[in-house]
Amino acid sequence: MGTTACTVCRPKDAHCPVECHGLKVECPLPNLFDPTSQRLEFLSQVKLFQRLPQDQHQLLASACEDVYFQDGEVIMKQGDDGHEFFVIKEGEAEVLISEKKMAVLKAGQYFGENALLRDEPRTASIKAVGRLKALRISRTKFVEMGLREKLDFPQRKAVGGQHHQVVVKAPTPKTESERQLISNALKKNQNLQSVVDLDMSRIKAICDIAWREEVPKGTKVITEGDDNADYFYIVQSGSFVVKLAAQSMEGKPNAATPASLIGPGESFGELALLYFAPRAATVQASDDASVWIIDRGNFKKIMAKSSDEKETEYLKYLEKVDMLSPLKRDEKMALAKCLTEVSFNKGEVIMKQGEPGDAFYLLVDGSVDFIKEGENKPGTRYQGFQDKAKPFGEQALLNNKPRACTVRVASQTARALMVDKQSFDMLLGPLEELKKRGKSGKSKLQEERQSTTIDSSRFGKIKRKDLKVLGLLGCGGFGAVELVEHQGTKETYALKALSKGFIVKSGMQNSVMSEKKVQLMCDSPFIVKVFETFNGPEDLCFLLELALGGELYATYNKKGFFGKVGHAKFYAAGVVVAFDHLHSKKIVFRDLKPENLLLNEHGHVKLTDMGLAKVTLGKTFTTCGTPDYFAPELIASSGHTLSVDWWTLGILTYELMCGFPPFEADQPMETYKKVKRGIGQVAFPPKCRGAAEDLIKKLCKADPSQRLAMKSGGVANIKEHEWYKDFEWQAFESLKMEVPYQPQVKSKTDFANFSARDADRPPQVKYKDDGSCWDKDFATSD
Ligand code: ADE
Repeated sequence: MGTTACTVCRPKDAHCPVECHGLKVECPLPNLFDPTSQRLEFLSQVKLFQRLPQDQHQLLASACEDVYFQDGEVIMKQGDDGHEFFVIKEGEAEVLISEKKMAVLKAGQYFGENALLRDEPRTASIKAVGRLKALRISRTKFVEMGLREKLDFPQRKAVGGQHHQVVVKAPTPKTESERQLISNALKKNQNLQSVVDLDMSRIKAICDIAWREEVPKGTKVITEGDDNADYFYIVQSGSFVVKLAAQSMEGKPNAATPASLIGPGESFGELALLYFAPRAATVQASDDASVWIIDRGNFKKIMAKSSDEKETEYLKYLEKVDMLSPLKRDEKMALAKCLTEVSFNKGEVIMKQGEPGDAFYLLVDGSVDFIKEGENKPGTRYQGFQDKAKPFGEQALLNNKPRACTVRVASQTARALMVDKQSFDMLLGPLEELKKRGKSGKSKLQEERQSTTIDSSRFGKIKRKDLKVLGLLGCGGFGAVELVEHQGTKETYALKALSKGFIVKSGMQNSVMSEKKVQLMCDSPFIVKVFETFNGPEDLCFLLELALGGELYATYNKKGFFGKVGHAKFYAAGVVVAFDHLHSKKIVFRDLKPENLLLNEHGHVKLTDMGLAKVTLGKTFTTCGTPDYFAPELIASSGHTLSVDWWTLGILTYELMCGFPPFEADQPMETYKKVKRGIGQVAFPPKCRGAAEDLIKKLCKADPSQRLAMKSGGVANIKEHEWYKDFEWQAFESLKMEVPYQPQVKSKTDFANFSARDADRPPQVKYKDDGSCWDKDFATSD
């Protein structure tokens, strides 16, 4: 038997316990080597490796090596790029953030797992305490052995789409000191304070609606994982113990965080006020207690109230516009809700003489000049005020006649309220008809109007019985997506099934019907197409265009594409075109993330999953989406418009360039705090500086009306941005541009780029028809 290098040694050998100094000697301490089985046991605890198929674990174990560190040795340094991952086998290590000790890691715990996937600055330093023995694996080895390609990447879950019946009790009368306690508790709740605007009038309104309940010792008020997460609690008396969910995070222990205590004047459960999501912790009364309770629905109404007040103000402006005099009061109110705020800078042209008019404006701040081109005269200047808005461009609501003059911003900035003709027509029908109808006819709001025409002759051709299931493409809480083949044509599709039992259980009837409507309205090469919808006894199904190249999220992780500029431009461009299409139909998407982008066999990108998409004229109020991608106005619950989508494009661009989203945190509330602080506080790694940084910052403006595509010029502002210099948009949109990555797809039935497992299928929820016929218009075929 020949001698081998001491595998205990690291390349620079300094800490080899036998001091072999890298010499090719047989290790005198063979008992220090772990048999593979022991390694497997350690590795099986690591979350990342649980995504690796079982048959790859042996290979993984062989890719690891034993390493030793002396007392005080820095194993990884905060801020350095990471290339290695470690599992502690013996000994302890300190986690230091900015030199401050945050935690101690023990045997079985691990750190640096993200380093196996991407270059990412270490978020903490790790220092050995005493002698430490660990297993180490480097990214190079991990990739070389094909392990990264084998990993399975579960999707980040969207939140907030669900609705269910919530018990709301009558407010309990309160003494002055109780009101004080509630008010102080709200002010003291850092999470709440840092994500929503709680002024005095809102605090008072919250005090008004709170009701009181007695909680006997031992009662679990909140249970981790519980779907009934609808209330926020303020402790009047007694105390509660909070047990946070187990966490696994870079540089922090993956054990449960120690319990903490909540006493009188303190509060908990604030995430439930923002949106519906299962509870992340358990809260139990540690003695007899009394609490004040606030439900999400009422909280949301209070948060939206300032928006109601604004709309009443807008209504007053509309009352003064002559051309709108044929509108009834309810129609004007609906129009007021539809107005969106737009903002301009000095010199910007709001309307150009000769161009077709497509929008009506109310100037509420700043001044503009009305200029007759060709006339050698200075324009007439108008000033807009919050309480005396100046209307202009109203002819556009009647016809598309060319604008009679140019309107240019004269002040440093100007703000206006705007409605475009298309939204106006979708809401009330053409103004000509309203004029003909006069004041006496029926309100247009009471008429059922189809907002878009859908060519129904396209549908009804493919029958479900003719589809044969060939494989599983994906799974979610709702059901599964399967690869199916039509027995007659041999054409293949993706069949997405939603369990009706699950839909009813989670109150998603309306959102599924909206998903169908939206899906049918879409017609873009950058959006997954729908071919049919079926209504079965247990499920509703969408027959969708197949994209066999895989999910962008999994592809980026497996191939290590993060930071590649050409890739990021190409995929983000697909989103620009998809959003342009959706927004032209007044559809807000609300759930952009790499998980919702698919590649087809040619490498072209397609937006998928209309589960949270919605036709929206003006503002909408449901907080939903994926926390890392939430825009600030979604978190503030103040109402949002199509502009949330442009925010998410900024987040996606950052993530594709950096490998992680800009506001990433261990807990959603921490993410929301970062969002509130703004993109200006986010570090941009070198690979994301320059034009990319500028574009991201212009998309992630806190003020929705300031986001690049919301400003005059619209989507062209993105297409003409410096980052897209030399990008051939025409070639891209006609699918002629060379793709940055050609996925391997051998045939129309090759689903090797997907790794869903049968074990991931959600448990069946039996459907019981309640006779409400909520699903009667779902199917296009049988
Ligand atoms: N088309 C729609 N959803 C799909 C999926 N999950 N996989 C492949 N193609 C799809």
